[in-house]
Amino acid sequence: MRLQPNRDYVSNDEVQTPLDLAERLVRHFSPSGRILEPCRGAGHFLRFLPEGTAWCEINDGRDFLQWNQPVDWIITNPPWSKIRAFLSHAMTVSTNVVFLLTVNHVWTKARIRDIQHAGFGIKEIVLVEMPPSFPQSGFQLGAVHVAKGWSGSIGFTDLSVPVTTKRSAKKSGRPAGKCLTTDERLIVV
Ligand SMILES: C[S@@+](CC[C@H](N)C(=O)[O-])C[C@H]1O[C@@H](n2cnc3c(N)ncnc32)[C@H](O)[C@@H]1O
Repeated sequence: MRLQPNRDYVSNDEVQTPLDLAERLVRHFSPSGRILEPCRGAGHFLRFLPEGTAWCEINDGRDFLQWNQPVDWIITNPPWSKIRAFLSHAMTVSTNVVFLLTVNHVWTKARIRDIQHAGFGIKEIVLVEMPPSFPQSGFQLGAVHVAKGWSGSIGFTDLSVPVTTKRSAKKSGRPAGKCLTTDERLIVV
């Protein structure tokens, strides 16, 4: 019995979030107060976050797991091989945490337990399209917002836009591997 859509995909912690997707997520969550991008990579989220947003990046000598100043919001695409450590630590320093990941990552008993034990709850799941540059596991990509003290129901939003596949690109004449916004403007991913 197959429990996983694709067991052969290769995970990669260095994948950068496409600019258009980072912008859409920052606009949607509109973080305010003290904000931290805990693993900025090439800085694609940071570009759309307010000036003064703090950041960490292990490759630049700033280890998020050593960060201990309180913040109001953390928003990022974390290294998927370290989600448990990242989420657990994020909930000790921030009241709101938004992680872009395949949503199954937060749907394990262990992760739900971590969230509950930290006094947090899942406030919203925002579905987005899987960029072609991301590892293709077959699982749904989403931005999961966990909030301190949240015990209400989980909001569910679909912010995804169509991605052109090789087949649909052939039909439409549009280049493959591009995302289309809802107004059909081409976005390079
Ligand atoms: C999936 S990439 C995402 C980069 C960026 N957040 C984005 O969304 O485009 C994850 C990043 O986490 C960084 N990273 C891994 N472990 C880290 C740690 N302990 N502290 C800070 N950054 C870390 C990696 O070097 C990589 O740049």
